Amino acid sequence: MTVLVIQVNSLRKKNKPVVGVGCASTRDTSAALSAYCASANIPSIMFLPANKISMAQLVQPIANGAFVLSIDTDFDGCMQLIWEVTAELPIYLANSLNSLRLEAQKTAAIEILQQFDWEVPDWVIVLGGNLGNIYAFYKGFHMCKELGLVDRIPRLVCAQAANANPLYLYYKAGWKEFKPVKANTTFASAIQIGDPVSIDRAVYALKNCDGIVEEAMEEELMDAMAQADSTRMFICPHTGVALTALMKLRKSGVNGANDRTVVVSTAHGLKFTQSKIDYHSNDIKDMACRFANPPVSVSADFGSVMDVLKKYLLSKAPKY
Ligand SMILES: Cc1ncc(COP(=O)(O)O)c(C=O)c1O
Repeated sequence: MTVLVIQVNSLRKKNKPVVGVGCASTRDTSAALSAYCASANIPSIMFLPANKISMAQLVQPIANGAFVLSIDTDFDGCMQLIWEVTAELPIYLANSLNSLRLEAQKTAAIEILQQFDWEVPDWVIVLGGNLGNIYAFYKGFHMCKELGLVDRIPRLVCAQAANANPLYLYYKAGWKEFKPVKANTTFASAIQIGDPVSIDRAVYALKNCDGIVEEAMEEELMDAMAQADSTRMFICPHTGVALTALMKLRKSGVNGANDRTVVVSTAHGLKFTQSKIDYHSNDIKDMACRFANPPVSVSADFGSVMDVLKKYLLSKAPKY
């Protein structure tokens, strides 16, 4: 996003008629774009689906001073509208179909290689919504191979929520015919996208790295999030989708126990406290919430506190 905003800034300095930068967003793109536009003093305009994003989730673009349109449609509807609007008005479109975004997002792949001391991991699992990320990761790895920094590239896995899985269905159908879907509500709300703009790029990337597409049901992704959290990760539901993909591939033996695997985590768990609260309160319809860890209510007397503590400690005692 910094690359894109720098580019817009230089266009404006050259008196090019760019009145602002706009995007359709399920949240995170709008958070980043509005922040960098605020620091560059460029108007930012957000097309966000109404009633699908809570005020807590909207707070970043609002606080950053963006002009936020809350539109009575879903992400795909917002994307369509901003396409039409930017054809009429000189608003610079910042969604991930913009090649500046994709080129810049390649750095994520380079950082992975650098952090692994240029040893190529066997697998990298990336979430898929609008499908810019998966393509950018591929491009980054491919570029490093072309430059001779590494001698191969990892196999990529694109992980989707089963409630918004057009790429998964396309993959399962042997890449026969792409059909956009109506994306249903998912706890992984940032990837609730049924008609991804970078579909062709994603397919190109996956075909060129022997890639795989996996999906996660709502219960699976929430369980995965809770399990990861219990090891202190405090992840977001999207990362739960990616971890579910890993668990499924490990279970089926596609991903081996000694394979080096990177799971990309894309948002902070603190943005998703409500879904964690609902999960740990066992308050999600049709979900067993197997790893819920609700607080134990106890009356304020020594005996009662000792009783619950002993019961807990007994359950934790090592079994010899
Ligand atoms: C938190 C989060 N994870 C994953 C993604 C998926 O990236 P892409 O839309 O490029 O597939 C997004 C996209 O907005 C996101 O916000």
